[in-house]
Parts: sequence; structure tokens; C-alpha cells
Amino acid sequence: MKIVRITLFLALLALTGCGEIRTPQAADAVAACVGCHTFGEGGAMLSGPNLYGIVGETAGTRPGFGYSVAMRDSGIVWTPQTLDAFLQAPAKFMPGNRMAYFGEVDAARRASIVAYMQGGAAPAPDRNESMEQVAEGR
Ligand code: HEC
Repeated sequence: MKIVRITLFLALLALTGCGEIRTPQAADAVAACVGCHTFGEGGAMLSGPNLYGIVGETAGTRPGFGYSVAMRDSGIVWTPQTLDAFLQAPAKFMPGNRMAYFGEVDAARRASIVAYMQGGAAPAPDRNESMEQVAEGR
């Protein structure tokens, strides 16, 4: 049974391309962000807020960071979907926000960025756990 599960897991991994985020290039996904954001637990606020564990949080609520009114009052909850839309075109998604980043047009690259944020600073260990649950039908 175990073999079947592992095989399924590997098949899923190959299908979804999850394997990519385990490569040493994982941090490359957020290369465009690290000038303004840290991603590790307890990381510093730079010109943008620390983003550790941001997925699932309400936008503009990190203590100790001075957000724009647009971000603070947006009421947006950061999910993989809202993050994808925000990162595609920040100014369009949230007019008036202060993030000076044009956006990432490539959907696959946006997906890697979001996957990285879901996994925290390490190359997304949680994601593999959830992939395993999918493979096991849990
Ligand atoms: C030039 C600096 C800069 C770059 C580059 C940048 N950001 Fe930001 N980011 C900011 C600032 C400033 C804010 C706060 C904006 C506001 O308050 O309106 C922000 C806010 C955010 C937020 C919302 C945080 C919260 O607490 O709600 C997320 C998510 C985010 N950025 C992700 C990214 C990602 C991912 C990248 C790279 C693809 C990136 N940013 C690139 C400056 C930047």
C-alpha cells in the first residue's frame, strides 16, 4: 500500500510541477521581492513588511509597519488566489497601495512566488505534506 501511495505522490508531484520548488532555485522565485521584503520568521521590516506566514492573514495588519490607507483598509484576506491577483498587477488590484512593484505577468512564476510564501523561508516543506494528503485522498 505504501508503494502505491508513494507512486501516487510522485506522479502528482510530477504533474503539478511541485518538485521544482524543492530545488536550490526556490529562493529565485522571490528574487524580485527580497530588496523590500524578508520572508523568514521574525524577519526585519524593510521598505515592505516581513512576509512570514502571510498566507491566511488579513492585508495591512502586521504590527510595526506603516501601511498605506489603501492596504490597511482593504479588508483583503491573503489567499493563493488574492495573492496571485495582487502580484499580477498590484496597482490595479489595490489602487492606492504603496508597493512599488510592477507585477509578474507569468502565471507560472506567480505560482512559484505564492508557493514560496506558503512554505515560509524553507523550500516549502508544508506543501509536500499537503500534496501527500491529496495523494492519500484525505
Ligand atoms: C519596491 C519595494 C517592493 C517590492 C519590490 C515588493 N514589495 Fe511587496 N510591499 C511593499 C510595500 C511598501 C508594501 C506595503 C504597501 C502598502 O502599505 O500599500 C508591500 C506589501 C506587500 C504585501 C502585503 C503585506 C501585508 O502585510 O498585507 C505582500 C503580500 C507583498 N508585498 C508581496 C510581495 C511579493 C511577493 C513581492 C515580489 C514578487 C513584492 N511584494 C515586491 C514593497 C515591495
